[in-house]
Amino acid sequence: MGEASTWRWTLPAGVSAPPVPADNPMTAAKVELGRRLFYDADLSVDGTMSCATCHVQKHAFADSTRTRPGVTDEPGRRNVPGLANVAWFTPLNFADPAATTLEMQAATPVFGTHPVEMGMAGREAEIGRRFGRDSCYQTMFARAFPEDGGRIDFSNVARALASFERTLISHGSAWDRQRLGPEAQAGSALFARDCASCHSGSNFTDLTMHRLGPADPALADQGLFEKTGIDADRGKFRTPSLRNIALTGPWWHDGSAWTLDEAIARHGLTHGAADVAQLIAFLGALSDTEFTQRKSLAMPEDACGKRL
Ligand code: HEC
Ligand code: HEC
Repeated sequence: MGEASTWRWTLPAGVSAPPVPADNPMTAAKVELGRRLFYDADLSVDGTMSCATCHVQKHAFADSTRTRPGVTDEPGRRNVPGLANVAWFTPLNFADPAATTLEMQAATPVFGTHPVEMGMAGREAEIGRRFGRDSCYQTMFARAFPEDGGRIDFSNVARALASFERTLISHGSAWDRQRLGPEAQAGSALFARDCASCHSGSNFTDLTMHRLGPADPALADQGLFEKTGIDADRGKFRTPSLRNIALTGPWWHDGSAWTLDEAIARHGLTHGAADVAQLIAFLGALSDTEFTQRKSLAMPEDACGKRL
């Protein structure tokens, strides 16, 4: 086995490797291909939009808009979430119980129509043709998928993207290093009391869908109800991870909370100004600047020995 067909996780002590589907083992060649694809606008219908257009590293792979329109400029419906530690998340997206793997999730931006993001619905075969014309991609797919003769199609694109996404690992915040200042430390106690029932574990999410206010059938986004048709699911959304939360605003599934203060107030819990300040100090300690600057997650500078 060569270097390209192996993979070694770089994880801090106490963190075990994320689950990986048996039919898509991690390899260095797949991660390298997935990284290239993540930053390649040829994955969108008119060549204007890559995954990274919306998922921006300096925002912990979220962006700074309320909802980001796709290639047709139809307004997006939901706020772009950050991607730190997505390898551990299932289901994915705000309210989609069927999106259980990163391989499956990749179809949402590429082929989705509600909203249109990258606009490739009905053009799956074109993906193979486009990347197949590029000799460097031919080499990269051959190295990543030797078992299928380097086949270039969406299923292998999704497998490579998922392999890269599993490397979006963030464990370098002040919280991880147990370096909380006094304000954040006080916030941590409040957080444990009032927030950690849902924002639980080391990614601060129970990966479960909750409704935080009364159900309102008039709202444009009905959350989980849109997938299940069950009345009790109206307005339910998956608890977001709070890793790097200070870098991913605006907040809320529709990006309608412009400050963390407002995002906290939306829960309908009551906190005085001093408590809110402490909670926000705690949330600030979840930012990981090593993650937002890590070279191996940035746009690749070269491919097949040539500068991009
Ligand atoms: C037009 C902006 C846009 C583009 C382009 C885009 N995304 Fe997203 N992404 C979003 C939004 C919005 C969501 C939330 C969707 C939802 O919940 O319905 C999301 C959700 C995700 C999630 C789920 C995260 C979680 O916490 O569950 C992953 C993973 C993801 N995107 C990966 C990708 C990949 C890979 C690509 C490229 C193939 C991509 N995205 C392209 C906007 C975008
Ligand atoms: C009952 C479960 C629950 C509790 C308790 C809870 N949250 Fe949340 N939180 C959620 C859900 C669900 C959302 C997503 C709401 C939406 O987008 O519609 C959310 C959203 C957020 C957001 C915005 C995240 C983003 O990416 O947009 C922040 C910040 C947040 N919560 C912080 C807190 C804090 C701080 C507390 C404690 C004071 C708290 N939450 C208590 C479930 C909970």
